[in-house]
Amino acid sequence: MALKKLVAGNWKMHGLSADLAEVKAIADASRNFPAVDVALCVPAILIERAARAVPGFAIGGQDVHHQEQGAHTGNISAAMLLDAGAVLTIVGHSERRDAQRESDAEVKAKAEAGLTAGLQVILCVGESLAVREAGSAVETVLAQLDGSLPGSLGGKTELAIAYEPIWAIGTGRVPTSRDIAEMHAAIRARLVERFGEDGAGLRILYGGSVKPSNANEIFGIPNVDGALVGGASLKAADFMPIVEAAADGPGSF
Ligand code: PGA
Repeated sequence: MALKKLVAGNWKMHGLSADLAEVKAIADASRNFPAVDVALCVPAILIERAARAVPGFAIGGQDVHHQEQGAHTGNISAAMLLDAGAVLTIVGHSERRDAQRESDAEVKAKAEAGLTAGLQVILCVGESLAVREAGSAVETVLAQLDGSLPGSLGGKTELAIAYEPIWAIGTGRVPTSRDIAEMHAAIRARLVERFGEDGAGLRILYGGSVKPSNANEIFGIPNVDGALVGGASLKAADFMPIVEAAADGPGSF
């Protein structure tokens, strides 16, 4: 089944008011590629201004708290993201799993909170270099997935999985196409096992040093239904060629 590709930018801790011009440039240029879903996950404090600046374009958060409200200093709920104009959120990015010590169980709770509130959720998984070199990348990522996937989808396909090998993030290193294909096929099989037909409709994104120079090849890999892009999403000049490559690709079968 060919799924519509999703290319989501993750701005991480980058972006000030002046960069809203770049959000606008990306949103405007994305209109030329209706065959691709394009989104930008910006710092929380920019969400409302970004969403106002580009009505109809998908703006997202980079994290969400698993509870609806309460005494959680510094955290943001799904309702707050929606209220600010976000339509999606990332959960379980490896930088949060590492620096904020987020467990699979927490990531699962965040994914469930986001989906329940009506956000689209991009759930990240990925192995360390040591795990890859030890030859246990697939089993490690599947175990992460087992611990982090929401209990049910409620018949919807608003969940996307982002496979992001930690050693490929921001390093310029990318796994071989064969390794990406193997991992994405394993993730697909596990999603179908868990969610039946709905699992076949969930997009599996690749993330980690996606650039204009490698996007074509990556989007040609079976079961790669899009990309989560960090560094190359900050400027329209870098990001749009990636969106264009997704529009040109054959789709996954
Ligand atoms: P990168 O980041 O594209 O800069 O490697 C990807 C990510 O962390 O989502």
